[in-house]
Amino acid sequence: MTSVKKIVVLKGDYIGPEIMTAGLAVLEAATRNETFAYELIDAPFGGDGIDRAGDPLPQSTINIAKQADAVLLSAIGGPKWDNMSRRPEQGLLEIRSQLNLFANIRPTKVTSVQIDRSPLKPEYVKNTDFVIVRELTSGAYFGKPRKLEEHQAIDTIYYNEQEVTRIMHQGFKLAQKRHKHVTIVDKSNVLATSKFWRKIANEVGKNYPDVAIDYYYVDAMTMAIMSKPATFDVVITPNLFGDILSDEAAQITGSIGQIPSMSIGENGPNLYEPIHGSAPDIAGQGIANPISMVNTVAMMLIESFDEKRIAAKMIASVDYIIKNHYVTPDMGGVMTTDEVTQKMIAYIKKHE
Ligand code: NAI
Ligand code: MG
Repeated sequence: MTSVKKIVVLKGDYIGPEIMTAGLAVLEAATRNETFAYELIDAPFGGDGIDRAGDPLPQSTINIAKQADAVLLSAIGGPKWDNMSRRPEQGLLEIRSQLNLFANIRPTKVTSVQIDRSPLKPEYVKNTDFVIVRELTSGAYFGKPRKLEEHQAIDTIYYNEQEVTRIMHQGFKLAQKRHKHVTIVDKSNVLATSKFWRKIANEVGKNYPDVAIDYYYVDAMTMAIMSKPATFDVVITPNLFGDILSDEAAQITGSIGQIPSMSIGENGPNLYEPIHGSAPDIAGQGIANPISMVNTVAMMLIESFDEKRIAAKMIASVDYIIKNHYVTPDMGGVMTTDEVTQKMIAYIKKHE
């Protein structure tokens, strides 16, 4: 008997539950005639964690997540909890560090059906298919000392050898499974941590002779993402630069409401989430774009469970709705979340 996969579901806030419901409904349709068995375990987290358990990351949720095969998260946070001492977003930083999720992986892919939704001209964006590997638990966002005083402030960029080495291996291994090309992003003409980053990239790269390496300073990279996005495969970047570049890259696809991400730890489960936030401005109206969550669930199926065929059904249903313009207002359509979801489910059922 195949084992039942345990998926912890952190349903999120504002549009979070709306798109989680949609993503899970499409998953159910796609697994109908499959042997893949899964169990969904609901746990409080974020604003929902504060409301239900008095904490954005209750200890019980950490314990459940550590035992799980994967963690599926929707977007969290929003004005309801903005003035609380512990905000929902703190739960996010804590779960990353508790599960030691040191690599954040964000794909940027523009399929032929999406090409006319990109703000870039088709000839620039054609064939764009790259992945940003962002270091997530060190660098400028965690370095000490960090201080804000009246007349001065300080942040610190810190990286040690182990932190840089493991993210490099992650990126090179991913490139071996893709198009065997790694781009190292840094600011090594100025920053010591970037010189260190590039030196380790070179050393680690020797273990992957089949992977080609090139290098970009981060400022040049912001331009290259706009002018020649189709030339990249795997982009490895420190935390701060990756935060910025991955938002820039998301825009190439036309709507932030489509893009999934995964965060990888050392031994524990991966965490999967759409890249956008909880969109309080459209919550409760039934118009949130469910594509990001459907793509997020598909990514989980591929990466954590090696269920490529089920994921392919889900991705085909996304292509179908985009092609036929059965989409929500953020993509220029007039459909509701539920209508789009039903279209995807109908497509999957019809093609079985
Ligand atoms: P946001 O990503 O929630 O929204 C930005 C814009 O994109 C809004 O106009 C929103 O309506 C639109 N949008 C986002 N996802 C969409 C979807 N699936 N369908 C249709 N439109 C969509 O970013 P914002 O407004 O800066 O943040 C809102 C809240 O979310 C804040 O409390 C923030 O802290 C939190 N947040 C949480 C994240 C997470 O859970 N990982 C990440 C980013 C923000
Ligand atoms: Mg960001």
